[in-house]
Amino acid sequence: MSTATAVINLDIEGPTISRHLYGHFAEHLGRCIYGGFWVGEDSPIPNEGGIRLDVVQALRDLNIPNLRWPGGCFADEYHWRDGIGPREERPRMVNTHWGDVEENNHFGTHEFMALCELLGAEPYISGNVGSGTVQEMSEWVEYLTRDGDSPMARLRRANGRDEPWRVKFWGIGNETWGCGGNMRAEYAADLSRQYATYCRDHGDNKLYRIASGASNDDYKWTETLMRQISCFGCEATPKNFFQALSVHYYTMAGPWEAKGSSTVFDTDDYYRTIAAAQKLDRVLTGHSTVMDCYDPGRTVGLVLDEWGTWWDVEPGTNPGFLFQQNTLRDALVASTHFDIFHKHAARLSMANIAQTVNVLQAMILTDGDTLVLTPSYHVFEMNKGHQDATSLAVHLRTQDARRQVGDAELDSLSASASVKDGQVLISLTNLDAEEPAEVTLDLRGGLLGEPTARLLTADQLQDHNSADTPGEVSPRPFDALKVVDGGLTVTLPPHSFLTISGLVSGRA
Ligand code: AHR
Repeated sequence: MSTATAVINLDIEGPTISRHLYGHFAEHLGRCIYGGFWVGEDSPIPNEGGIRLDVVQALRDLNIPNLRWPGGCFADEYHWRDGIGPREERPRMVNTHWGDVEENNHFGTHEFMALCELLGAEPYISGNVGSGTVQEMSEWVEYLTRDGDSPMARLRRANGRDEPWRVKFWGIGNETWGCGGNMRAEYAADLSRQYATYCRDHGDNKLYRIASGASNDDYKWTETLMRQISCFGCEATPKNFFQALSVHYYTMAGPWEAKGSSTVFDTDDYYRTIAAAQKLDRVLTGHSTVMDCYDPGRTVGLVLDEWGTWWDVEPGTNPGFLFQQNTLRDALVASTHFDIFHKHAARLSMANIAQTVNVLQAMILTDGDTLVLTPSYHVFEMNKGHQDATSLAVHLRTQDARRQVGDAELDSLSASASVKDGQVLISLTNLDAEEPAEVTLDLRGGLLGEPTARLLTADQLQDHNSADTPGEVSPRPFDALKVVDGGLTVTLPPHSFLTISGLVSGRA
């Protein structure tokens, strides 16, 4: 068993953890939209206006803060005018990126905004730079957000929506280095400035424009965007063309060509996965460091708008649908990522799991009228108290909690903490596949009253939930907290995630 001490100063507050770090992503890909969110008004599955209500309720229970749509790679093929007006009259297209299937455009702008309203989530719309025009994007913003009398506001009203919506988060393209147009960074930076110029703030709707950014550790891309972010000649009233830039980071156990199965893996695969997940810390540090050179005041956000595990598709499913199972391993990747997000809360303004339903590291798997919550879902739920909380730094002192994996060393413990309205939430992950970990929480600067804890673990890392065994991996109360002088001691089982919460008192 490894032993560790986690020192947490309850009275030294760090940056706020934006609730948007717990954001989501829904693309027209496989069964994410169709079958996942959308079943149509005539479906026997309970729905409101075609949107399935069991999925809405499950996501409301997570306090889902935002939803990114319509892609991904699909965004740069999507023409929003095809998705408005009477559904049966909407033009169809082929979704060439994902499965080469026909897209009937039944789920479009009005349906997406209705979904966001049902969820209580902010929309994050990803505009088409790769195959769309500046005018098209500009008019979409006008259609959604302009009040009063204007061509696009009239069109919106003709389609049944009088009031403009509020839309803050606006993506300028997606993966412009790849499926979004295969551009060079310099060209993408120029296009980002051009498109952003015509994405206007209508009335008091203020856009938060997110330029399509780097893949993984491509710091050069970030540097190129940051060099081009400000308006030359606007020195009198300095302004940036975009308010944030994105980065995408997926976790795999090996190279792209050998991603491996989501459920059939060994301990070495598991540790390689965790090492890859922990690498995100270095990647975010790298991008933040570059951004600090151009924006030391940290006014520009870094948006990790795609993250998660990417495995081979489930046998027998369409390779273009990216449907994979979700095990305890995925949940531990999620908990590790959240600790990293909290650490980078000063620069990281949003993160979006790829993807919410039936695609990649999903929260929810549906099949007809059945719905299964994945182990990853439970991590989002157990951690939701961190949303909009103040981060508390955690200093881990470990003796033997590091492990060599290939050329990487990984930490077998991960932790983070926050406080909101006097409520402290501590998240601890024991990443060791076989050994328990005894952790002493050395709490300073206050006392933690009536702590309670919840544990997520399973017999095997490969365990997962299915329609037959929906609760195989689900949180349970954990009552083995030992109160010691100045803190708590807890023994985490192997491969487990624990949250501890309590009310803080006596803070300096
Ligand atoms: O999430 C699946 C795909 O991964 C997205 O469409 C694309 O942006 C990324 O490559």
